[in-house]
Order: sequence, then structure tokens, then C-alpha cells
Amino acid sequence: MISLTINSIETEVHDGTTLLEAAHELEIEIPTLCHDDRLKPFGACRLCIVEVEGVPRPVTACTTPAAEGMVVNTESDHLYRLRRTIVELLLSDHPNDCMVCARAGDCTLQELAYFYKLRENRFHGEMRDHDRIDENPFIKREMNKCVLCGLCVRVCDEIQGGGAIDFAYRGFDAKIAPAFEKDLDCEFCGQCVAICPTGALTGKAWAGLSRQKNVKYTDTTCPYCGCGCSLTLHTIGDQVIRVSSKKDSHNHGWLCVKGRFGYEFINRSDRLKTPYVRKRKDGDLEPVSWDEALDFVVSGLKRIKEEHGPDAIGGLSSARCTNEENYIFQKFFRTLIGTNNIDHCARY
Ligand code: SF4
Ligand code: SF4
Ligand code: SF4
Ligand code: FES
Repeated sequence: MISLTINSIETEVHDGTTLLEAAHELEIEIPTLCHDDRLKPFGACRLCIVEVEGVPRPVTACTTPAAEGMVVNTESDHLYRLRRTIVELLLSDHPNDCMVCARAGDCTLQELAYFYKLRENRFHGEMRDHDRIDENPFIKREMNKCVLCGLCVRVCDEIQGGGAIDFAYRGFDAKIAPAFEKDLDCEFCGQCVAICPTGALTGKAWAGLSRQKNVKYTDTTCPYCGCGCSLTLHTIGDQVIRVSSKKDSHNHGWLCVKGRFGYEFINRSDRLKTPYVRKRKDGDLEPVSWDEALDFVVSGLKRIKEEHGPDAIGGLSSARCTNEENYIFQKFFRTLIGTNNIDHCARY
């Protein structure tokens, strides 16, 4: 264990704990922009600077490990002015179109500007004007709004294993881009969208919808596969307008392309909501109740078993079912129908 003092509070932390983590253990808030505790520390934004006694200049709390006897100060007029200037510099070439930005109200940069009362900016100069290459189906990319925090690059690399984007160029021309500056062509998991602290990355499906009033949030489970990721549905009336996932869920807020972007079928008017049965050979499919559909299946299975034996029947279970449902399905085939003809769609 390491003993140190933060804001005059003596504390002990495990060796390897950063100053930011140590402060969080004491419920001391330090502003951050490039940090996410699900990713490795990066030290890009410099907002988390703190003073350490005996060290001439402030250090970044997110990348500095706690050391024995350290005396740390996270708040002072000097730190406030430095952090305020950092945000001011970030805003100096930012489009500042919060009025029409899809992320307004859910943007860390906007919150910081509000906290540091940055109505005016002392720095005026060249503005970035990156081309928008935006033909991909899911993710709207507005690199003029990017603060180069690197969160998207790191989540794609460290969590998704995609490596689809990286820092390109240097200095004022620096930007986040896929290889050769092409349009995104990746797994489209959208982890980068979920973690981006500004309006630089947005889901196209909700770009013009998410800022409405009366949005209701409902926690549920993804219907697509047995991983059962936790989702939060954003709805207006009976329309799902967006899907997100919480950081404290068992999937840590990460989803795949299906869970994050594949929800539009819910709102489709031609979506099947009742079973259909073809009652006569060559007849049309007709909507029926669940009871009628299940009776139809039962009588069909019984008839085939009587006429041809249980091995004339086979069952294919589904990756969309839970583990327990798939277990029951195979048990039903082996014990009630009496056949081992059972397989799962994930095998082919
Ligand atoms: S959608 Fe997923 S794979 Fe594509 S860039 Fe974002 S994090 Fe990487
Ligand atoms: S696109 Fe968003 S997450 Fe990626 S570096 Fe820019 S601001 Fe950060
Ligand atoms: S489909 Fe994707 S988001 Fe849905 S449960 Fe499976 S892995 Fe999770
Ligand atoms: S949060 Fe520490 S440098 Fe960005």
C-alpha cells in the first residue's frame, strides 16, 4: 500500500493506483476529457492536472501513479485558470454550433464550457475545415468537432480489437481517420460513438431525433443473441429512436452493430406480430392466435412421429435464444420427441 495526502486528506491506495483513481476513491472530482476507466490512461487533454508538492509544474492525474508520501492538491486558482485556458483553446477552433448539434445536452465539452463560464474566447485564428467523408450507413463523422482525445481510437483498439481508426497528420492538421482517409468500413459496433465526448461522432439513425422532449428510457435485454447485452431504449411514444447501454451493465456499455444500430425493425409497420399458419397445402399463410399455432405444431409433430418415427423429426435451435431456452429445446427433442436430431444455427 502507498500512503499519500490529497487535499489535506491522508489516504492509502494500492501500489499502481493513479492520482485520478486515488482522488476518486475519496470522492474528489477532477475534470477529465480523454479519460475512461474502461481504457488505459492516455494523458491527451491535460484537463486533469493537479499540483504535487516538490514538483515544479502540474502533472496529469490520470497518468501519474501515486507515490509514497506524495502531497497532492487538486484545486487552486492556478489550476482553475490553467484548466479554463485548456478548454478555451479547445473551443478556439470548435464550430460552436450547440444550437443544432445532436449531442447538445450530452456533450462533455459543452459541460466544461458551461462550468468555466466560457462565453467569450480570447483566442481567434484559423478554423479547421475537414472534408466530411460520410457514405457509411451508421456513423456520422464531423471531425471539425473532434478534440483529439483519442477515446475512439483506443476503444476501437483496446475493446473492439478493430484498429479501424487512428491519428493522422500532425499539429493543426491532426485528425482521426480510417486508413488512407477513406470512409469508415469496419464492424460498426459504434463503441466509438458511445464514448466520444463531443458531437464529432453520432449515430446516423438518431442524429436528428435524440434531442426531443418526452424521451423515455427503458432498460431491457438485446433480442439478437444469447450474450444478452443490456440495452437502454430511448422512446417517444411507441417509437424507438435510439439504443444505448450503461457503463455499469454486465457488457460494460459495449454493444455490437446489431444491438446498437439494428433496432429499426421494431418500428416497421410490416413487422410480424402474430404467428401465421398455412392451413391448406397450396393455401396462403393466415394469421392465427398463439394457441392455434402451437396446437398446429403439436398435432403435426405427433402425426409425423406416429407415421414415420421420432427420427423423421429434427430441431434447429437459435442463437437469439438464451442458453436456458436452448437447453430446454434440446431436452424437449431428446426426451419428449425421442430423437437426437438437434442442432444449432451457430454451427453452420
Ligand atoms: S464502429 Fe467499432 S470498429 Fe468501427 S471505428 Fe468505431 S469502434 Fe472501431
Ligand atoms: S472523434 Fe470523438 S472520441 Fe474520437 S478523438 Fe475526436 S472527440 Fe475524441
Ligand atoms: S447481438 Fe450484439 S448487442 Fe445484442 S446481445 Fe448479442 S453481442 Fe450483445
Ligand atoms: S484526463 Fe488526464 S490528460 Fe485527459
